[in-house]
Parts: sequence; structure tokens; C-alpha cells
Amino acid sequence: MDRIRIVGGNELNGTIPISGAKNAALPLMIASLLTDDTLTLENVPHLADVEQLIRILGNHGVDYSVNGRREKQNEGYSRTINFSARNIVDTTAPYELVSKMRASFWVVGPLLARMGEAKVSLPGGCAIGTRPVDLFLDGLQALGADIDVESGYVLAKTRNGRLVGNRFMFPKVSVGATHVMLMAASLAKGETVLENAAREPEIVNLAECLNAMGAKISGAGTSTITIDGVDSLSGARHRVIPDRIETGTYAMAVAMTGGNVLLEGARADLLSGALETIGQSGAAITEEATGIRVYRNGNGIQPVDVSTAPFPGFPTDLQAQFMGLMTMANGKSKITETIFENRFMHVQELARLGAHITLSGQTAMVEGVARLKGAPVMATDLRASVSLVIAGLAAEGETTVNRVYHLDRGFERLEEKLSNCGAVIERLSS
Ligand code: EPZ
Repeated sequence: MDRIRIVGGNELNGTIPISGAKNAALPLMIASLLTDDTLTLENVPHLADVEQLIRILGNHGVDYSVNGRREKQNEGYSRTINFSARNIVDTTAPYELVSKMRASFWVVGPLLARMGEAKVSLPGGCAIGTRPVDLFLDGLQALGADIDVESGYVLAKTRNGRLVGNRFMFPKVSVGATHVMLMAASLAKGETVLENAAREPEIVNLAECLNAMGAKISGAGTSTITIDGVDSLSGARHRVIPDRIETGTYAMAVAMTGGNVLLEGARADLLSGALETIGQSGAAITEEATGIRVYRNGNGIQPVDVSTAPFPGFPTDLQAQFMGLMTMANGKSKITETIFENRFMHVQELARLGAHITLSGQTAMVEGVARLKGAPVMATDLRASVSLVIAGLAAEGETTVNRVYHLDRGFERLEEKLSNCGAVIERLSS
């Protein structure tokens, strides 16, 4: 299993190109199931989760080509990929495939809307909480689907061959359930109004793509989204937005190590208040024509309390990295996780690097230390893993991060991007 070896202590200086967002690319790829035309997606990151979803979609009959060629491109950053679901050959998403990645459950929406039926295994994914699917099932039922859950599978069917628009209020904000309802309602008969919808930039990116395919969606990015169902959707060409979580992660890495880095292609508007929070903790962040520049503001790292929340609040996907940053702050900070109940697995690993953190329920109290010291640590999920990497960059001496496959799910060419900016970081294969 690969490991990452880091020798900490170097500043980061230079340019880091920001990749296409994993969490935007995945639902966009799934949207290709809605049409028999070709959906061309630009700026798709080269990540394990994208490859896995390509396999899952292939099982349903989706063909793909990368930059016009059929073979996978192993070199190069984010790519343009054509997806074509001319014939859906299977409406079942089996356990072996879905259990590896939660987002693959989302195929339930487009399969049901286009084919009138879907059989999809209950999902797996990062071990960050129980993550039920009740909101998806309630939402699809509101659109007239009959739903059964049997032997670990969700069986969904339309009554008269087509979903029917309706008003649906999410009792809790869910990114995934909003994506699925957008896709399903786009092909439903009549109007759907979604209330308390997720407002994440990835939702807006999907809605824009669906509209380019002929859907009639308004209000994406606000909590009320209206979808006027259409009979069919066509192909389109659409660009994946830059990854806001990768952006925030590298901004925090620079805040920890010092230095000056241009996050090329990054968009500040996608991070909303999170960049301000990172700024309050000691990074100077300025927008430039080609991206966002980050450097230390010279006052050391200041403690800032943070509570995660749906967009535009502080993202849960940056919580672990922010905790990494706070381990070196000049004082105490309080970090509260409100989205997932088990997203503190990085705490004991950060402690191995010398961090002082105490946990009480959903809150972590972090007492900053003057320096972290390198140690062997274990990656437990995607964002937790990268918090260990950035802490390792700032720590004295050597850190090895084990179980690197978590990182490969969501960070494109991490070692290369960081070593180009002066970090001592390498992958060890064993
Ligand atoms: C998306 O997951 C992201 N994944 C997650 O990123 C991210 O952490 C999360 O949104 C929150 O921002 C992708 O976009 C692929 P949710 P999702 O449904 O859609 C509960 C990463 O590291 N809930 O918004 O699965 C759920 O348990 C990943 O890239 C229900 O109760 O998250 C959670 O507490 C990890 N019932 C809350 O809602 C449901 O039916 C929000 O989850 C669905 C969700």
C-alpha cells in the first residue's frame, strides 16, 4: 500500500493549479444518464472516484472517450471527457460497485426519470457517519415513485412510466438529495418546487449543465429551486467548476508553512465566508486575474472558532484541515462539526504529531502548540488524510501518511503540486 513521506519545515512558494471539483464532476457525470446524446464535460479531475464512477456508469451502458480517444489518459491534469448513454443496458447498480462510493447511489434519480425504474444498492463511502438515504426516498416518492427497500437494495418505479412534478421540502439540507431531485424533476411531468434545497456551488454547476441540456431550472444557489419538467434532454458541453475544497486546503497549507502561493484558477466566490475565516487565522488572501494568492500575514496563526454548516457556511470538507491549522495557533479554538457525527477521526492522528485536542461530543477544543513534530500517521478518510499532509508539511522532521488511497480519491497530483512549491514530499510504493 502506498505511503506519503514528508519532511516538514519548508515554506511553500510558487503556483498550484486548482483542479476541477470532484464533487461537481461526479453529479455531472451521472447527469449523462438523462440523455441519449453526448454530454461533454471539461475540466474533469483525474481521481480514483472519477475512475470508479466511470466503471459504474459503464455498467449502465454509458460509453466515454477522453479528449476524443477511448483510452484512459494517465498523464495530464483535468481532462475533457465525452459521456454517451445512448442505450441504458442495465438499471441495476450493484452492491459491489455502489458500496465503494456513496455518490454512485445518485444514479437512482436519472435512471428512474429516464427508464421508469431503478434498482440501486444502498451506498457506502467514507466512514464519517451513518449517512442515511431517507431524504432521497421521500423526495422521489413525492414525485410519484413507488419505493421499496429489499435485501440492501432500493427498488424504485414510476407509476405510469413518468415521474410527476410536486412541491417537496427537504427536512434537512442535503447536497446529494438536492442533486438527485434536480435530475429526476428535470424529466418529470409538470413543475417541481424544492424547498430548503442545498445551495452549494456544485448544485449550481449541475443546474447550469442541466439547463444547457434543455432543462428548465431556476433558483439554483438559493434554497428554493423550481424545475419545469421537460419531455427529454439533449447533449451539451459543460465545464466543471474549480475545486473549492482543494483551494481551501492549499490556502491553509500556506497559512501553516508560510510562503506565497498563487492558487491558479481558484475562485473566491465558491468559498464564500470560508476564505475570510482562513484569513482571520493569519493568511493574507488576495484575488488576482488568474486565481487567488495566499501568503502569511506575518502575525502568526490566530485561533478562530468554527462551526461547520451547509453552504454558505464553513464546509465540513474543510473542517479537518482547519483543525490542522489551529493546532499551531497562538491560543485555543473551538471547532464544532454539525453535518456528520463521526468526522473527527483525524484528531488522534493529529495528536501523534503533537497536537493538543480534546473532544467533547461534536466539539473539539484545540490548544495551539508552538511546533508539531513529524510521526507516522494513518489516513482515515479523504479530508482527514489531507489534514495530516498539511500538518506534516509544517511539522519538524519526517511524517509518513499511510493508506494514501483515501487521498487519491479526491486530490489530483497532490505530491507533485506541493513539491513544485518547495515541499519535500514523495510517494513510497510498497
Ligand atoms: C456531499 O455528500 C459531499 N459529497 C461530501 O463530501 C460533503 O461532505 C457533504 O456533501 C456535505 O457538504 C459529494 O458531493 C460527492 P449530504 P452528501 O447529503 O451529499 C444527512 C468529500 O469529502 N442525510 O449533504 O452525501 C447526512 O447524513 C465528501 O468530498 C440524511 O440524514 O452529504 C448528513 O448528516 C464527504 N438523509 C447531512 O444530511 C439523507 O437521505 C448532509 O449530507 C441524506 C443525507
